[in-house]
Amino acid sequence: MKSLRLLTPFGSVLLISLFVALITPPLRAAQSPTRFFPSKDLMPVGVYYYPEHWPREQWDRDFAKMEAMGFEFVHMGEFAWAFMEPEEGRFDFAWLDEAVRMAARHHLRVILCTPTPCPPAWMGEKYPQTFLVGVDGREREHGSRGNNALNDPTYLRLSERIVTEMAKHYGHHPAVWGWQLDNEPIAQPDYSPSAQAAFREWLRARYKTVEVLNREWGAAFWSLRYNSFEQVRIPNPTYLYGVSPHAMLDFRRFTADQTGRFLNSQAAWLRRYLAATQWITTNYIVNIGSADPRRSTDLDFVSFTLYPVSGGHNLGDEGFRLGWQDGMVFGGSFYRPIKGVTGVMELQPGQVNWARINPQPAPGVVRMWLWHAFASGCSFACTYRFRQPLYGSEQYHYGIVGPDGVTPSPGGLEYSQVAREMRELRGKFDATAAPPADYAARRTALLWNHENLWNIDQQKQTALWDTWGHTFRYQEIVKSLGAPLEFISEADDFSKYPVMVAPAYQLIDEELVRKWTRYVEQGGHLVLTCRTGQKQRNGQLWEARWAEPIYALIGAEIPFFDLLLDEGRGEVEMKGTAYPWNAWADVLKPVGTTETMAKYANQFYAGQSAVTYHRLGKGSVTYIGVHTKEGRLERDVLREVYRRAGIATADYQEGVYVDWRDGFWVAVNYSSRSAQLSLPPAAEILMGSNPLKPADVLVWK
Ligand code: GAL
Repeated sequence: MKSLRLLTPFGSVLLISLFVALITPPLRAAQSPTRFFPSKDLMPVGVYYYPEHWPREQWDRDFAKMEAMGFEFVHMGEFAWAFMEPEEGRFDFAWLDEAVRMAARHHLRVILCTPTPCPPAWMGEKYPQTFLVGVDGREREHGSRGNNALNDPTYLRLSERIVTEMAKHYGHHPAVWGWQLDNEPIAQPDYSPSAQAAFREWLRARYKTVEVLNREWGAAFWSLRYNSFEQVRIPNPTYLYGVSPHAMLDFRRFTADQTGRFLNSQAAWLRRYLAATQWITTNYIVNIGSADPRRSTDLDFVSFTLYPVSGGHNLGDEGFRLGWQDGMVFGGSFYRPIKGVTGVMELQPGQVNWARINPQPAPGVVRMWLWHAFASGCSFACTYRFRQPLYGSEQYHYGIVGPDGVTPSPGGLEYSQVAREMRELRGKFDATAAPPADYAARRTALLWNHENLWNIDQQKQTALWDTWGHTFRYQEIVKSLGAPLEFISEADDFSKYPVMVAPAYQLIDEELVRKWTRYVEQGGHLVLTCRTGQKQRNGQLWEARWAEPIYALIGAEIPFFDLLLDEGRGEVEMKGTAYPWNAWADVLKPVGTTETMAKYANQFYAGQSAVTYHRLGKGSVTYIGVHTKEGRLERDVLREVYRRAGIATADYQEGVYVDWRDGFWVAVNYSSRSAQLSLPPAAEILMGSNPLKPADVLVWK
C-alpha cells in the first residue's frame, strides 16, 4: 500500500487495476447452454414433487415409483419457503437434504426451485409492505402466492437471503442438475409505494429531465404535464378514463423490467455459490403477455409451462380434448431461439382444476403433446405434478398418480410410455444427422417485440382485433407450409432466414426500417402485416402521412384503414377467390412497379389493394393489409411468397405439425380427423402409422 501512495493518481489506478485483474478469476467466456443438454439424451422426462406435502415414510416409495415409471428427474423446493425458513433467520434444509438424497438413490436428477412466490406468514405479519398493491388499489395479504412487491427492499433482502442459503447448501450438490427461479413470472402491475418510487426512478433514468418526459408522453394532452418526477403516479386504467398510452407503455416496460431484474438478481445470488455444471432457468407461462422473457437476460435459458386442455374449443369436435394446437409450437419457436435451449417445465398430466370448464384430455393426447415437445426442440419435459393433492386449492388437479399415491392416472401411464419410448429412440440417435436440405431452406423468422402487443392492446380500435390471434395465424401458416420457425428480436441476425414475417409491427424507428431494407435488398423475403409502422417507439404517431416511414420499403402508401361491425361482410378477392373479413383492413395504394396481389371487392374502396408485393434488390416485401375471417387469404399469399422465392413448401392439414429434430421426423395431429402424410419412399417408420389419427404420433427417419 505504501508504494501505491508514492505513485501519481494515474499510476496508482493502473497498479490497482493490475492487482484486481490478477486476483479476479477471468470471466468465463459466454458458453452455450446446449452444453447442459447433450443431443444424444434427446428429451428426458421429469416430474414435480412436493415432499413437504406428504409423510416422510412415503417419500422413498414415491421416488421409487417415479424411477420405475421412467422419470429421469424430479423438481422440488418450489413454494416451500415456510419449511426452509420457518422463523425469520432460522433455516432448515434437513428435510430437503433427505428428499434430495432419496431422489438421487433412485437415479433422479434434481431441479431445485427458489421459493420466492410464497413467503412464510411471518414475513407478511412483520413486514406488510412486502405485499404488492393491485390495480384494484388493495394491498395483498398472506394466503395465496405471487403477491409480493418486487421493489420492496425488505422483500428483496429476504429473498436474497433464502436464495443464497439454498445456493450455499446445494450449489455443489452432485444430485442437483439445475435451478428454476420463482414460478411463472407474470409481471403483475404493482401500485405499492415502493413501486411508485421505483417507477419514478426508472423514468428519471430514462428521460433525465421532466421536460423530456413531458415531450415523450405528449403530456400537453389534458394538461397532464408534470413539473417534477415526484408528481408522476403510475397510470391506473381501472379508475381513470383514457390514461395516457405513452405512460401505460412505459409502465408495462417498467413492470417487465422489474420482473426481469428480479430474476437476474436471483441468478446472480445463486451463481456466487453454484458449480458451473448447474444451470438456471425460469418457467414462463407459454404466451405470457405481461412478462417479457427476453428481459431475464442473465439466465442460462428460459423455459415455459403449458396446459393445452383447459376449456378451449380448439379444432373440430374433439378439439376441446385434444388441446390448444398453438401452444407447443409457440413454446418451442419462441423460447428456444432466445438462448438456444428451452424445455417445457410444466406440462399437463390430465384434467386440471382452474379453467372455466375442465374436461378430460383425449386418451393418448398427453403422449402426443410430449412427442410434440420433442419435435419442437425441447431439451426436457417436466410434468406438473406427481401426486394429486389431497388438500389445497388444486385438489381437483390430476397427477401422475391419483389420490391414493400409487395408482397411475391415464396421463401418468402416457408419460411413462414416452419415457420408455425416448430411451428406445436414444438407441437410434445418430450424431452426424443433418437437417434435410428442403426443410432447412424454409427456415422462417417471426419478428417479435412485446412492446407492440402492449401498445396495440391498449388501443385496439376494434373489439374484433386479437393481437395473439393475429400472430398465431401467421405461426400456423408457416408451420402448415412445413417450415422451421423461430421468433426472433430486432437485435438478431435477419440474414439467416430466407423468409421473415413481422405481424402487426406497430412500433418502429428508422433504424429498423433500414435493417429491414438491407435484409430485403440482400435477398430476404419480408412479410409485413396490417398495423405495421403506425407509431414511433414512444407510441406517438409520425408527423407524416399515415405509416409513411415504411412506404418506400413496401412500395405502397396506406391512405387509411377500415374496421367493420361484428356482422360486417367485407370481401377481398384474389385470383377469382373471395375471402371475407371484418376485423382490420389497411387500404393500400401501390406505387411504381409494386404489384397488387389481392384487392378489396366491396365497400367504398372496392378495387383498391389489400395485399401488395414489392420486389426490392434481391428480395421482396409483401404487405398483407387485411386480417380475414378464416385466414385462408393469408395462407394463400404466404404460399405464393415462398413459391416466388423458389422455396418448396409442404401443405399440412390444419392441426398437423411435422418437424425434424436430431435425425428424426415427428408428426402429431391435433385435428379431429386423420391425416394422410406423404412420406419419402425410403422412410423407416419407427413409431405410429400413416394415416395419422387424431391425438397420435408418427416418428420416422
Ligand atoms: C401452473 C403453476 C403451478 C400449478 C399449475 C396447476 O400455472 O405454475 O404452480 O399451479 O398451474 O395447473
